[in-house]
Amino acid sequence: MEPIAYVNGAFVPLSEAKVSILDRGFLFADGIYEVAAVLDGKLIDNASHLARLERSVGEIALALPESIERIQEIQKELVKRNNLVNGMVYLEVTRGADTGRDFAFPKGVKPTLIMFTSVKDIVNAPSARTGIDVITVPDLRWARRDIKSVALLAQVLAKQAAAEANAGEAWMIEDGKVTEGGSSSCFILTQDDVIVTRQNGSEILPGCTRKAVVKLAEERQLRIEERAFSVEEALAAKEAFITSATVFVQAVVSIDGKKVGNGKPGPMTDRLREIYVDFAKATAV
Ligand code: PDD
Repeated sequence: MEPIAYVNGAFVPLSEAKVSILDRGFLFADGIYEVAAVLDGKLIDNASHLARLERSVGEIALALPESIERIQEIQKELVKRNNLVNGMVYLEVTRGADTGRDFAFPKGVKPTLIMFTSVKDIVNAPSARTGIDVITVPDLRWARRDIKSVALLAQVLAKQAAAEANAGEAWMIEDGKVTEGGSSSCFILTQDDVIVTRQNGSEILPGCTRKAVVKLAEERQLRIEERAFSVEEALAAKEAFITSATVFVQAVVSIDGKKVGNGKPGPMTDRLREIYVDFAKATAV
């Protein structure tokens, strides 16, 4: 069966899901996106993703074409129509298609809203057992990384460099410190068992998975520090891991070819992964 996508009010076969070449998402990357995981046919931590969507569109003065409640209904309907068990729902909203290419916001143009799903068994992904290698690259992005903009060229280049090095993620570096992964938040576990992740701010995306993991760790009296860390500190750490909607909690076993810890996923990473998967299943909608 051909996958079903959603485009501006209609559920259509993926091959028929089209938007205009004048769409501002296409011309200017003038749009926002979200990715929510699906486990057993249910959306994971979706309220958090939709809250971030509302915040992101607010920051660029883009009005959503549907209410948040309706957007969740569409996500659920799409999961159902695709018989999706495990994977994710991608959604994107742009400032729509004007009649030409004017940089300033158009008047009276309806925003574009599209969604599609993809299949991935996140819980049983092989890399969850083995961990991933990461490389480091300079962070080339703009100054408002807290907005989940579809302008992802720097991340495309970073993740292509990682793919060419057979690595699973690229960690972006600015002023000697790790900002975040190409599509993930970064964590380390120090030798004295402190979980460290960079504080939120305009330098990074406020990860929904990061937020949940920090809260779950705090509830278990684990020690957490939100501050920037360097690659040297990560290499001297016991463990390192990344979080995102598409990997949950994923061990990092090497950085630029140098082992982290013993080069295997560590017990804290495994524990936080388990805790997160339990939370995800218990709160899925
Ligand atoms: N990316 N940082 C960046 C730059 C990201 O693109 C992402 C997610 C994250 C993690 O955020 P969350 O836990 O809310 O997924 C951090 C999505 C998955 C993507 O672009 O595919």
